[in-house]
Amino acid sequence: MKMEKLAKLIKNQPAGFSLQQGFYKDTDIYQRELERIFMQSWLYAGHVSQIPNIGDYFLYELADESVIIIRVDNDTIKALSNVCRHRGSRICMESRGQQKLLACPYHGWTYQLDGTLRGAGHVHPDFDKADYALKQVRLTVFHGMIFINFTGPAASFDPIRQDLDECLRPYGLERAKVARKQDYLIKANWKLAVENYCECYHCIPAHPEYSEGHGRSVPDETVSELLEQVTAKGEKAGLPEHCVDKSWLDAGGIGIDRGFDRYPLLKGFVTGSRDGKPVAPLLGDIKGYDGGATDIQIGPLTFYLAYCDHIVVYHFKPLTAAASVCDVTWLVNETAEEGKDYQVAELTWLWDVTTIADKRIIENNQKGVNSKFYQPGPYTMMEDFTRGFIDWYLDTMSKSSG
Ligand code: FES
Ligand SMILES: [Fe+2]
Repeated sequence: MKMEKLAKLIKNQPAGFSLQQGFYKDTDIYQRELERIFMQSWLYAGHVSQIPNIGDYFLYELADESVIIIRVDNDTIKALSNVCRHRGSRICMESRGQQKLLACPYHGWTYQLDGTLRGAGHVHPDFDKADYALKQVRLTVFHGMIFINFTGPAASFDPIRQDLDECLRPYGLERAKVARKQDYLIKANWKLAVENYCECYHCIPAHPEYSEGHGRSVPDETVSELLEQVTAKGEKAGLPEHCVDKSWLDAGGIGIDRGFDRYPLLKGFVTGSRDGKPVAPLLGDIKGYDGGATDIQIGPLTFYLAYCDHIVVYHFKPLTAAASVCDVTWLVNETAEEGKDYQVAELTWLWDVTTIADKRIIENNQKGVNSKFYQPGPYTMMEDFTRGFIDWYLDTMSKSSG
């Protein structure tokens, strides 16, 4: 029955139009999305600098799942299911911390940092501890960024690694640190949040602060001219030329699991800040400001705004069918000192104000979508990425209904 509902919605979905109401509200569809999209995609969990010492951990939580991302030794980070192998209690309750052992609060089973069972009292004589290690979630570290994948046996991280490795290198992200991390709760379906992120049609009305120095709505010739200047300067700044003007990677211009798009800032801005002036020391091996910025995508739900002096990471995830979280992280060079080399309030001003505005417009979007008068509307030429995301979504969901 559930599958029939999905198949019918997919069949009736007009191409090039926003989704029908059921996709944004129906809890059966949402359950299917968890299985087909969230359990199978590479998800950004955090940055290595959040767990510098052995035993440091933080939790990545999504729907019913909770994962302990923990540093086991200097070279090893693991993702362990936060579910006790005795009778299933959550083990770590705090969202972050440091532990010598992982101890379940229910009956006291203890686990080593790598998830192997260490102690369990009063068990039967034939009990073998080796059978009861915490379950592991796939994890990979890429330029200091921790990605996890719940199942996704077919999902290899290799294509992302191959295509983005060299282009990311100048940013030295493995030598970055978190300056601020903020969850923005959005009372709307997660797809409305991602759709909104993927287009800048709304930027002029919704984001005057962003539009001051960024603009996809200026004439194409102006953008090309500015991009040439950025490319010339980028060479000196240590950003390889073939990366400076590399566009979205997959055929069709849209890479749903990876993309790298360099573009010029406007009006002499050199970074994404209140007045366009630097807000932190240069990142990694970058030697100067070239007046450009980069949009990066890794996996279908994580987006990066990379400037020469800082990077902002956006990770979207659902809480329910009707609510989602936009998890935003600001990364700076690890040697930068807060209060001296950067001020958090200035560093985060632009994307904080922009995200708060996005939250408002996305929530208004959901309210309208909930109405009995809502019907799918046409994507414009400024919403190609959003359309690409929706095409990918429908394709992924339709595979599950076959
Ligand atoms: S559920 Fe963890 S020790 Fe019993
Ligand atoms: Fe926006």
